[in-house]
Amino acid sequence: MTAASDGLEGVVAAETVLSEVDGANGVLIVRGRSLDELAGRTTYEDMVGLLFGGFYADLPANIPAALGVARVEVFKEVAALDTGLLDRTPIEAMRALTARLGDGDDAQVAFRLLAAPAVFTAAVIRAQAGEAPVAPDPTLRHAADILRMLRGATASAAEADALDTYLVTVADHGLNASTFAARVVASTRAGLTSAVLAGISALKGPLHGGAPGPVIEMLDEIGEPGNARAWIEGALARGDRLMGFGHRIYKVRDPRADALKAAVRWLDARQGRLEFAEAVEAAALAILREHKPNRALQTNVEFYTALLLEALDFPPSAFTNVFAMGRVAGWLAHAREQLAGGRLIRPASVYVGPMPKKAA
Ligand code: SDX
Repeated sequence: MTAASDGLEGVVAAETVLSEVDGANGVLIVRGRSLDELAGRTTYEDMVGLLFGGFYADLPANIPAALGVARVEVFKEVAALDTGLLDRTPIEAMRALTARLGDGDDAQVAFRLLAAPAVFTAAVIRAQAGEAPVAPDPTLRHAADILRMLRGATASAAEADALDTYLVTVADHGLNASTFAARVVASTRAGLTSAVLAGISALKGPLHGGAPGPVIEMLDEIGEPGNARAWIEGALARGDRLMGFGHRIYKVRDPRADALKAAVRWLDARQGRLEFAEAVEAAALAILREHKPNRALQTNVEFYTALLLEALDFPPSAFTNVFAMGRVAGWLAHAREQLAGGRLIRPASVYVGPMPKKAA
């Protein structure tokens, strides 16, 4: 009897031309480009073109313009943001608004889904703060308009570049849990909106995309470098996981951590916070080595994600929403790749329950 692989660890569930996560060497490749070539050097719109190329026959020639139009189109759904939704977390409210978008498989549906996490999250954050939503400006690049819809004012070029770097850095990452969930739903031919809703739901979990918010809680509870060891030892003694550390694939440092740390450095006002975070990170890595000597527990993408999104004035409760703003491009590319060549995803299982009693 073949035993199930715990968490499907080591199971190859798809062939993809989209991205490769080399966990042994800490390398991320997206359609033949290394992260170093992409982070800080590419706009999110160009990343969409890189990921979507070959998968959408009706891919718009002018992606920035098409994404701007899509933001304006989905903004109409913000009117459905009622008090019932305002009591939900930002990710739940964004998911509910996204569910209002029609299903389908073409680029028009895909571009609305690219726009949805950004437009809905900005509106939800403002509404939960008692402020009116800000309509999109279709002439701006996506990252700049996200910050403008959030704040109601134009962000600096450095801030827009920092958010663009984040969105590009997290856009695609192999067969992570949320991308796999999106592929499973796409494989039933349910449609791109259904696939993205599956991705959002999987991303929400604290073991996956829900980790960056708790990183801020950890930093705030530690307060100053001298408290780091006691706090971390206490967390591990309780059996808690340190958010922002460890990874199923990376057994060395996640290359995205330093790409995002570099973006934090562009935002001058945050240097003191960055130095504090680096001290906490060093303590956490040392203590994880002491407690789990046989486990390669390194910093993952979420640790410096938290610093960057905090520096851009996103509330920690909405950090996962911002992750979805970037990752939705990967979900939509993988969904189309699954539709292009894949069959229905339906793995086997081994039954370990009781058998029927033999008839007397
Ligand atoms: C993302 O897959 C992707 O690509 C995901 C992602 C993407 O871009 O899509 O990279 C994004 O999800 C990054 C990970 C964000 N999550 C966190 O930061 C939450 C904290 N990290 C962990 O819970 C954990 O490291 C996982 C979930 C990320 C990976 O867990 P695994 O591979 O299932 O490993 P495991 O849970 O089986 O743990 C193995 C051992 C255990 O100890 P022992 O069994 O030896 O006793 O390592 C320990 C764990 O207790 N461990 C940790 C730890 N992570 C693993 N101990 C303390 N703190 C941690 N963070």
